[in-house]
Amino acid sequence: MSVCATAEIEDIIDRYPGRPEYLIFLLQDIQSSFGYISQESMRRVCDRTGVPLTRAYSVATFYQSFRLDPKGEHEIKVCLGTACHLKGGQRLVEDLERRLGVAAGETSGDMRFTLDTVNCLGACAISPVVVMDEEYYPNMTARKLEKQLKALNAADAAQAKEAGNA
Ligand code: FES
Repeated sequence: MSVCATAEIEDIIDRYPGRPEYLIFLLQDIQSSFGYISQESMRRVCDRTGVPLTRAYSVATFYQSFRLDPKGEHEIKVCLGTACHLKGGQRLVEDLERRLGVAAGETSGDMRFTLDTVNCLGACAISPVVVMDEEYYPNMTARKLEKQLKALNAADAAQAKEAGNA
């Protein structure tokens, strides 16, 4: 972990009194700054709050919103709430797992994609819903998904080419 990241973690920790009841606030702030909670930040939070490491990990794994590993460049979330599930959400997850070579809840080895499942996004009328990089895609199908992934790959390739020419 870089010196800057360590300093940022310490800044976050300094925002709260060093007591166990602030654990969740600290984890939320760390996740919001870094996108995930690293082992190093978890250890520092535990040192400061006095919460045992095993307890802090069980809290972090209980809440689906906390991540313990870094996210990929693109985050794809498939809704598996009841409406989306009934309209093929699980098939979309399996399709994405196959296309991206990654299991739901994981990040691809090249750090390009993180695939997650979520419960109802509050958009059941347009189910099944997939969210790619914070953008909602309604009434998703395997074909639309394929098209969207192609567009994403093309945009990344163009950006890489542009960066190479700069
Ligand atoms: S179940 Fe997917 S948006 Fe509600």
